[in-house]
Amino acid sequence: MKFRKVSPSVGLEIKDVNLNEALNEDQKDFLLSTLANTGLLIFRSQEISPAKLVEFSSSLGEARSYTRSQFGLEGFPEILVLSNIKENGRVIGSPVSGRVWHVDGHYMDEIPRATILAMKILHKEGGNTSFANMQAAWLKLPKAVAESVENLRINISRVQSREYNYPERGPVTDKEREEWKNVIHPLLLHHPVNGRLGLGVGGNVPWNIPGMSPEEAIPLVTFCQEWCTRKEFVYEHVWREGDVLVWDNWTVMHKASPYSGDRLLHRTTIY
Ligand SMILES: [Fe+2]
Repeated sequence: MKFRKVSPSVGLEIKDVNLNEALNEDQKDFLLSTLANTGLLIFRSQEISPAKLVEFSSSLGEARSYTRSQFGLEGFPEILVLSNIKENGRVIGSPVSGRVWHVDGHYMDEIPRATILAMKILHKEGGNTSFANMQAAWLKLPKAVAESVENLRINISRVQSREYNYPERGPVTDKEREEWKNVIHPLLLHHPVNGRLGLGVGGNVPWNIPGMSPEEAIPLVTFCQEWCTRKEFVYEHVWREGDVLVWDNWTVMHKASPYSGDRLLHRTTIY
C-alpha cells in the first residue's frame, strides 16, 4: 500500500485503496497495526455506498449500532447519520456532535475500538476535525506529572458530560439518568493492539478521580488535557467530499469544529 504521513504525530493517508473492494488479510493487518500506531487512517476520493461502508467497517472489527439510534440510517442500523440537512422540516441526522476533545464512548464500560466517518456531502469549508495522539502525549509528559497520574483512575459521568457539552440537547431525563451509570477507567488507556499507553483525559469535563479531592483532581486533569492537545501532538483534518476517515479511540482523541453549509456524513463504530 502507498501511504503518506500527514503530520508528525497523527495520521497516515492511504493512497491506492478502493474501499468498495474487499481487503485481503495482509492489507487488513497493515491497516489495523497502522491504525493503532498512528491513530488515524485517511482515504480520499471514495464513493462508498452504505452497504460497502458496513462491509469495510466489519472487515476491521465488529460494527455495532451506536448511541442515538433515532439518527440511524434506514436499513443500516450500524450507520449513524450526521447532518444539518432538513427534509420535510426535520433535520435528517445529528447536526452537532463532539465539539470538545473526547474519546468516543469514553463514558461507556467498553470503549469502541474505532470510529469511521465517510463525508458524503460538503457544501462549504469549515468543520475541520482535529485529532490528538494520546500515546505521544504520554511519552513526553513531564516525569513528575507522569508519576502522579500513572496509577490513577477516572470516574466519568455521561450525565455531567452531556449537560456540560451539549446544553442545547436539553436536560438529561430521569430515564437517561437511570440508564447512564458512571464508569471508571484507568487514566492511562492500555492499547490492546500495540500495548502502548495513552493519556486518556478527553472530555473537557472536570472528572472525579477516586481517592482525590476535587481541588487536587481538577487541576491535574486540566493540565493533562491541555498537554495532550499541544500542537506537536495534533493533526487538523480539512475535509473533502469522498473522504473516509478511520480513527482509533485508544490512540487519539478528537474534536469537531463549527461549520456552515449542507453537510452529510455516515458514521460507523467498531469494537
Ligand atoms: Fe466523536
